[in-house]
Amino acid sequence: MASLSLVLLPLIFSTSLLLTVTVTQSEAYSKTKPFQGYKPEKLTQLHFYFHDVISGDKPTTIRVAEAPGTNSSATAFGVVTVADCPLTEGPDMSSKEVGRAQGMYASTDMKTFGFTMVFNLAFTEGEFNGSTVAMYGRNAILLEGRELPIIGGTGAFRFARGYALPKTYKIVGIDAVVEYNVFIWH
Ligand SMILES: *[C@@H]1O[C@H](CO)[C@@H](O)[C@H](O)[C@H]1NC(C)=O
Ligand SMILES: *[C@@H]1O[C@H](CO)[C@@H](O)[C@H](O)[C@H]1NC(C)=O
Repeated sequence: MASLSLVLLPLIFSTSLLLTVTVTQSEAYSKTKPFQGYKPEKLTQLHFYFHDVISGDKPTTIRVAEAPGTNSSATAFGVVTVADCPLTEGPDMSSKEVGRAQGMYASTDMKTFGFTMVFNLAFTEGEFNGSTVAMYGRNAILLEGRELPIIGGTGAFRFARGYALPKTYKIVGIDAVVEYNVFIWH
């Protein structure tokens, strides 16, 4: 026992010393310095198809929550879904995948089909492989012309601002293929 504490004591000692040192050298909580401003230089247009598969044994979109009145609501008000949907070059699910739309959407309109979408578009092809954009907004799915804001991004899309124009391409049962034109200033 005695020899064990003899071995452990210096260890504990050096660990607490290390902790002290770490605390002293930690970075300041905040730093503010003059910034020359960021001027977006490019406008990138992306075009792809978003596959929202709810039915079958390989859904891309899963219902995770609902309100007591969701099933009796004409607009499924209160339903919350989580999705990892493929984004492909062509309208066919088997065409080349260029990224994934990962996020969630919830029915937030009592009168018409209107979803609040919270998505990260994570690209996996070409020069934007590894870059993401954050898309957030209202999607009134029955409207022909819809628009969702692009509110930020990572990688090649740092500082991104822009908008996405979804257009329903095909509906099969409760599944949908949606064509997207996305304009990103970055
Ligand atoms: C509402 O409908 C969904 C989908 O059909 C079903 O999974 C769920 O159990 C239903 N909820 C209630 C409370 O009946
Ligand atoms: C995309 O990037 C990942 C991670 O760096 C890499 O493993 C993958 O091969 C890349 N895909 C393409 C199509 O370049």
